[in-house]
Amino acid sequence: MTEARPGAGRIRSASSSASAGKIPVGVAVRQTAVAVLREVDAGQTVDAALLRVPLGGAERATLQWLVLGTLREYLTLQALAGKLLRKGWREEDHVLRFLLSLALFELRHGQRPAFAVVDDWVDMTGVVQRTWARGLINAVLRRYLRERAALDAAVADSDPDFGHPAWLAARLRAVYPQDWPAIAAANNAIPPLWLRVNTRRIEASAYRRLLVEQDLEAVGVAWSDAALRLPASVPVATLPGWAAGWVAVQDGAAQLAAHILEPRPGERILDACAAPGGKTAHLWALGATSLDALDRSAERLQRVGEALERQGVEAKLMVADAADTGAWWDGRYYDAILLDAPCTGTGVIRRHPDIRLRRHLEDVAAAAAQQARLLAGLWPCLRPGGRLLYATCSVLPEENDAQIATFLGRHPDARHSAHPLTGQTLPGQGEMDGFYYALLEKGA
Ligand SMILES: C[S@@+](CC[C@H](N)C(=O)[O-])C[C@H]1O[C@@H](n2cnc3c(N)ncnc32)[C@H](O)[C@@H]1O
Repeated sequence: MTEARPGAGRIRSASSSASAGKIPVGVAVRQTAVAVLREVDAGQTVDAALLRVPLGGAERATLQWLVLGTLREYLTLQALAGKLLRKGWREEDHVLRFLLSLALFELRHGQRPAFAVVDDWVDMTGVVQRTWARGLINAVLRRYLRERAALDAAVADSDPDFGHPAWLAARLRAVYPQDWPAIAAANNAIPPLWLRVNTRRIEASAYRRLLVEQDLEAVGVAWSDAALRLPASVPVATLPGWAAGWVAVQDGAAQLAAHILEPRPGERILDACAAPGGKTAHLWALGATSLDALDRSAERLQRVGEALERQGVEAKLMVADAADTGAWWDGRYYDAILLDAPCTGTGVIRRHPDIRLRRHLEDVAAAAAQQARLLAGLWPCLRPGGRLLYATCSVLPEENDAQIATFLGRHPDARHSAHPLTGQTLPGQGEMDGFYYALLEKGA
């Protein structure tokens, strides 16, 4: 999913034509934004909730900006609301919490005239059947506008966690005492749009020229000519050759995986936790010829099928619990395995801001236990002399270095292989997401 302030893209498109301070934040967008926040509050991921929304074009772009931005600042917005309201919301009026958060976010970051923003969100009280709250929302938003500088400063001064949940801020501060402020800043920023050129379809240099023709100056990296970072987000459908699969959206850190595993023609390769298929497609683009892609979620695996088809990727898809090898493995060894394990996602908070609300301290141990189970379950499927790349988009050592140390302690035939691209990247480092990679080799 890409995200941009409405009107920020340089390609002229439905969403960028909505610039010049007149972003349409129509009633459909406002109503859907409230509904999406309700779903996230009920435990749904924001990606899944947004996928189901039937809006397109400028409306979708505005919705994403509004919802992802509000989630990114959610705890700050709650602190602000706490200063503006005399008491909290009753359980049955919970919907007003989301309505007020969205309204405050738009007042803080939107480009529309403040009076129009206030009027529109006050009108929303009727749409969510809380007409009694018209006066209250009106008064609160107007007070925010009057006292904005003081309120913003008071909230910022009283938040040493920079809008992160206390457990996560404490953990990040403890693990990364030096880097914590930079990590927090990266988590709070709109991430850049990273592209991966499908070099089986077009040369990276030729694709870069096409971007320049569209007035898009991409920044490259030393380790791959196919990894390109755009200065601003654009609607992906407007990128050259999008429908023809010439390019995919994939963060730079996620693109490291295939370069570390280095697929060789003829090798039998397993992508054990494949959905939505970004790394499967990249392995194929780098020359993999025999690819099995597995995921426990049939719904997510369907998205893999769609993405692979667009990019022309050939892979065998299987729905299964990767650790339950008795249920899916045919007994033939893999030469290489990618285990992009389910994790806390603490390295990708900037892309999935709902993680701040949905994750809790106890999830760290649960994720680590699941990762250990997957590692142990998949290891017998690897041929002697083969390699397994373990990856997470987490920055917590329990899921990363400590996980690998425990695994090595239990598997004397496993060796940690040195590779210049492995280790921990932190959010924002090289403008990339936070990722962890460990390459393991099996003794012959
Ligand atoms: C980090 S995501 C993978 C991202 C993917 N590799 C990509 O680059 O597009 C983790 C995936 O693991 C899947 N998963 C979780 N537990 C699993 C299990 N026991 N077996 C197989 N897949 C699992 C989830 O459904 C999710 O799609």
